[in-house]
Amino acid sequence: MKPVQIAKNIYDVGVNDWNIRDFHGYSTWLGTSYNAFLIIDKKIALIDTVKSDFTEQLIDNVSEIIDPKKIDYVISNHTEMDHSGGLVRLMHLIGEDKPVYCSKMGKKNLPLHYGPKLNYQPVEEGYRLKLGDRTLTFLETRMVHWPDSMFSYLIEDIILFSSDGFGQHYAGFEKFDDVVGDEIMWHAKKYFANILLLYAPLILKLIEKVKELGLEFNMICPDHGIIWRRNPGKIIEAYARWSRQETENKALVVYDTMWHSTERMAEAIASGIASESVRVRPMHLRKWHRSDIMTEVLDAKAIVVGSPTLNNGLFPTVSDFLTYMKGLKPKNRIGAAFGSYGWSGEAVKLIREQLNDMKFDLIEPDIRLQYVPDRSGLESCFRFGKQIGKSINESSFV
Ligand code: FEO
Repeated sequence: MKPVQIAKNIYDVGVNDWNIRDFHGYSTWLGTSYNAFLIIDKKIALIDTVKSDFTEQLIDNVSEIIDPKKIDYVISNHTEMDHSGGLVRLMHLIGEDKPVYCSKMGKKNLPLHYGPKLNYQPVEEGYRLKLGDRTLTFLETRMVHWPDSMFSYLIEDIILFSSDGFGQHYAGFEKFDDVVGDEIMWHAKKYFANILLLYAPLILKLIEKVKELGLEFNMICPDHGIIWRRNPGKIIEAYARWSRQETENKALVVYDTMWHSTERMAEAIASGIASESVRVRPMHLRKWHRSDIMTEVLDAKAIVVGSPTLNNGLFPTVSDFLTYMKGLKPKNRIGAAFGSYGWSGEAVKLIREQLNDMKFDLIEPDIRLQYVPDRSGLESCFRFGKQIGKSINESSFV
């Protein structure tokens, strides 16, 4: 992708990774981008680099605008390798003595990736780096997404460079929200649900801090996906809502199945939930990627989980999903467990224990049927679904 001018003398010189489909366990059906931003002033600054495989593309993009050796400062907003992978090669090209500005935690974490040789310069929050007519300042944003994360803010242009924050795994020639349209919100939601949900309390504090500081944004430029310029407030409002874990009258029935028995139970339960006018979707764990299910979890009030018993335990995909969801810490949900079994039947109890660990409000009793559900068993599942639907409607959770 060619560099994109995003404002006068400011360019996105990052790259599209069109073909990545698995980003450490997150499905990236549309690829992703690693954005990096070049600011031309009396001093020239580059904010972030790209994943190492794409370093030459980054250097080519910079070369279309200036000789890369003219870069004076590199800013590392985040140590994770999708944004720092090109650092060593770039610094070798432009001069290893040039400063790499980073957060205090970046100063600790970058050498653990790239050795101590580079000129890492930690900045305090609020430090001002004069480029000429323009000034960069910095905001510590620990755990959005790593301890080293920070945002950079270009004061005169009112532009925020937000690293992972407000990002989306999306590769496209469309680089702005007003060009790509509202479908981008789904990608932003997926990114939040799968990368940032567990840091929701910190994100709420960060949004509060931004309000207290009176910061405004003409543009928000994340390191993944499109740039928010039409209405940057929209994505901030969405982050506040998602961080508060506001849910809708919506349920998911997430399951796997061996001989379709748990599947038939799932569909009967979903049908019972729907009969209470609650939006519901059965989601088979080998037909839906865990990260797409997690996107739906973000605003679902009830998560109903089903598993057959395999080798005295959970079906492996169910374990995988429960572990994944637990790590991301959804809160204030209703949970329920069900499953078919042959003889020992431990799976349902194991699901219940995990949902209980997540502090879900559990529907009791669980439902467990032996071998193949008959008409009466399916009717029990339907009633179980109705009970869940009623609980959703009566729930005072937001
Ligand atoms: Fe896009 Fe946490 O790196």
